[in-house]
Amino acid sequence: MERVKRLLAGARRLAVLTGAGISAESGVPTFRGPQGLWRNYRPEEIACMEAFLRDPVLVWEWYLERKKGIRAVEPNKAHHLLSRWEADRREAERGDFTLITQNVDGLHGRAGSKNILELHGNIWVTRCLACERQARDESLSYPELPPRCSCGGQVRPHIVWFGEMLDPEVLQASWDAAEGCDLFFVIGTSALVYPAASLPRVALEAGAAVVEINPEPTAFSDAATVSLRMKAVEFAEAMG
Ligand code: APR
Repeated sequence: MERVKRLLAGARRLAVLTGAGISAESGVPTFRGPQGLWRNYRPEEIACMEAFLRDPVLVWEWYLERKKGIRAVEPNKAHHLLSRWEADRREAERGDFTLITQNVDGLHGRAGSKNILELHGNIWVTRCLACERQARDESLSYPELPPRCSCGGQVRPHIVWFGEMLDPEVLQASWDAAEGCDLFFVIGTSALVYPAASLPRVALEAGAAVVEINPEPTAFSDAATVSLRMKAVEFAEAMG
């Protein structure tokens, strides 16, 4: 912890990558944990275009249940710590701060983070399959599933599904942040899903120190400069 505090105090350009683990203590289940299954489906079987084309009602039911679960919870101390890091750096006009998340739950925004690179999209945004129109959408139920756009097209969640490309601009900005930072935090991700999982390695290879916060070892732990076996909230509390 002391080493991490020293690294943080000396860092000019800071970047953070978060995954489902940061929201776990808010009560959002992780994907690969014991609660990751839903009606016996793995996320890979539901969060993909094949599933949507085959059974859009089933896919929407999954997302509506996730939305209800997320609406009912609050951001935790770890989300708040990251929004404070951003605000402190902005106010002090000192250094850079980039928050990159794989989470689609919107909890970083609710905690006050402003500049968020959402690699996998956002569950509170929808997109029309026909006309591509995007809309902020807080609905927890619809008169019919799948919901329809005003153009008549089917509407899907604005989420990057398995087998789909990430938004190239968001990915490029994340890559640039990883390459350009001197300190990179990776918090609460199993580091299994690419290309997000490459970012800590990109940072390391570019000469940054990389700190991992995760109660379990991951495929990245051995490579990390510092790997703290801690839960995200425990880390936030230890940071004071
Ligand atoms: N604090 C920090 N980390 C935690 C906590 C906690 N309280 N609880 C669990 N974790 C860790 C787990 O040990 C695990 O390594 O969070 C990680 C969660 O891993 P996953 O469930 O695989 O989630 P994530 O890495 O975000 O998944 C990546 O996969 O399904 C897709 O698109 C989805 O964005 C997601 C991507």
